[in-house]
Amino acid sequence: MAHTILVLNGPNLNMLGKREPTIYGHETLADVEQLCVEVGSGHGFAVQCLQTNHEGVMIDRIHAARGTVAGIVINPGAWTHTSVAIHDALAAAEVPVLEVHISNVHKREAFRHHSYVSLVAVGVIAGFGTHGYKLAIDHFAKLLKTA
Ligand code: DQA
Repeated sequence: MAHTILVLNGPNLNMLGKREPTIYGHETLADVEQLCVEVGSGHGFAVQCLQTNHEGVMIDRIHAARGTVAGIVINPGAWTHTSVAIHDALAAAEVPVLEVHISNVHKREAFRHHSYVSLVAVGVIAGFGTHGYKLAIDHFAKLLKTA
């Protein structure tokens, strides 16, 4: 059976393409999700995608990932910097997590320099634009083949 990779995007990422394009670029969320499905299928993965602006919806989806997906790629958006609850949900899921940020958060405001999610992530990809999602899925291919 194909491994399933879950690609999660948090608040405001539905606005990709329109939102602050000098920071986040011109690609839309649909472009990003299509990229993830294509890259995943190139590695033999099934890819499921969810974007939500509602923290409880995100937490429920993370819980449902436990025992059902091989890896989570998550761009938690602003919850990165604020949400102990997303951190705790990811810890409870016991699924390997790769954290992705389109922008280089370390080059931006100080409040973006801390991540609750990094504490439960295998690795963090930031500043590579939407290419970061591809890098994350490529890394899962390597990680899961050698597991
Ligand atoms: C982001 C960075 C966050 O600080 C911000 O709140 C976002 C997007 C990124 O992809 O660069 O919503 O996660």
